[in-house]
Amino acid sequence: MTVQIITIDGPSGSGKGTLAAKLAGHYQFHLLDSGALYRLLGLSLHQQGLLDCLDSALEQCIHIATHLDIKFLTTATGTQVLLEGEDVSQTIRTERIGEFASKVAAIPELRAALLDRQRAFAQAPGLVADGRDMATAIFPEAQVKIYLTASAESRAHRRVKQLQGMGLDVKIGNILANIQARDKRDMERTVAPLKPATDAYIIDSSELGIDEVFKLMTNFVAKQLAI
Ligand code: DC
Repeated sequence: MTVQIITIDGPSGSGKGTLAAKLAGHYQFHLLDSGALYRLLGLSLHQQGLLDCLDSALEQCIHIATHLDIKFLTTATGTQVLLEGEDVSQTIRTERIGEFASKVAAIPELRAALLDRQRAFAQAPGLVADGRDMATAIFPEAQVKIYLTASAESRAHRRVKQLQGMGLDVKIGNILANIQARDKRDMERTVAPLKPATDAYIIDSSELGIDEVFKLMTNFVAKQLAI
């Protein structure tokens, strides 16, 4: 049986995570949050004191990446993420861990170490894969490729709301600067840079709500997959 794959790539804060989860629920497909894998690896390498010596301790970091003990558990309220048995669902969503993830994601050997783990998510009946290089590197065979973007300013405003909702005190200027720095690093890295696949459907969500984007996506999926 052919596994149907929908990829959603784009910069941080474009709404990919929310839309990917909504689509996976709608079609009863599996869900891959590839950013969470980079966040978990960043956290693990930080805990082991290796984040500042990724180059000199590369072999050890690759070993850790390949053997990371990760579990994604589906709960009534979302997904619970376990690292070595510990619930780190909230921890990995912070800006700090996002920075760790971005550092790790710039190392080609560490990206390669996470490749098989990501591809293993492609199981029947289908998968919604959310990330930066889902269509260009991990699942080039995907039947549906979507690139979801939004202006840096609108993404910063959304992120501030989200973090305030988690009870955190944040400043828009800092968040915007972080987003711009991360975009630059993700787009300019030599391996698997963030960019739309040539056959991707590009959606700019700057002026659109979740429901409007969801409708655009399901209309496109219906054309591509006949479901
Ligand atoms: O989507 P996110 O914010 O959770 O991603 C965290 C970091 O990981 C971000 O800086 C980009 C990187 N990443 C990546 O390089 N490739 C992916 N497929 C997913 C995330």
